[in-house]
Amino acid sequence: MKRGALALLTAGCEPRVELKPGDPEVVRAAQQIFETRCANCHGPRGRGDGPGGRALWPRPRDFGDPAWQAGADDSHLRKVIVQGGASVGLSPQMQPNPDLADSPAVVGELIGIIRGFAPAPEAKSASPETDKPGP
Ligand code: HEC
Repeated sequence: MKRGALALLTAGCEPRVELKPGDPEVVRAAQQIFETRCANCHGPRGRGDGPGGRALWPRPRDFGDPAWQAGADDSHLRKVIVQGGASVGLSPQMQPNPDLADSPAVVGELIGIIRGFAPAPEAKSASPETDKPGP
């Protein structure tokens, strides 16, 4: 049984299927949503350089910024994605996605995609002597 992302998202009137983050259907739906709704502004690699994003001010940030990744918790990301930028004092150009309020697993995977844009932890070990654990 193959269902597209849209079928999944408009499934509100069908009997509810228990979907969990990591389910292949959920992963596919989130990837499709990122490509069709988000990448135009956020860019395919989350760098904020999609054609729509380049035209905006403020521009969408680079999701590859490790400092931002460390400071932004999942509940912040969830709120921005579902309720829009204005709900957390960011730009209203970051529009809400109210249809995702009923698909927490899909939002979880979108957050996973955003987390995936962070550089791998090994990448910052370029100078090992500065990486010594503190006292
Ligand atoms: C019309 C362009 C546009 C689209 C489409 C868009 N965004 Fe955004 N997004 C923005 C902008 C601009 C900001 C930055 C707002 C600011 O810094 O004030 C933003 C901010 C964010 C943030 C918060 C970043 C932070 O600084 O804390 C997240 C998370 C996010 N977007 C995720 C998404 C996801 C997921 C989608 C697709 C469902 C999406 N966005 C679609 C323009 C867009």
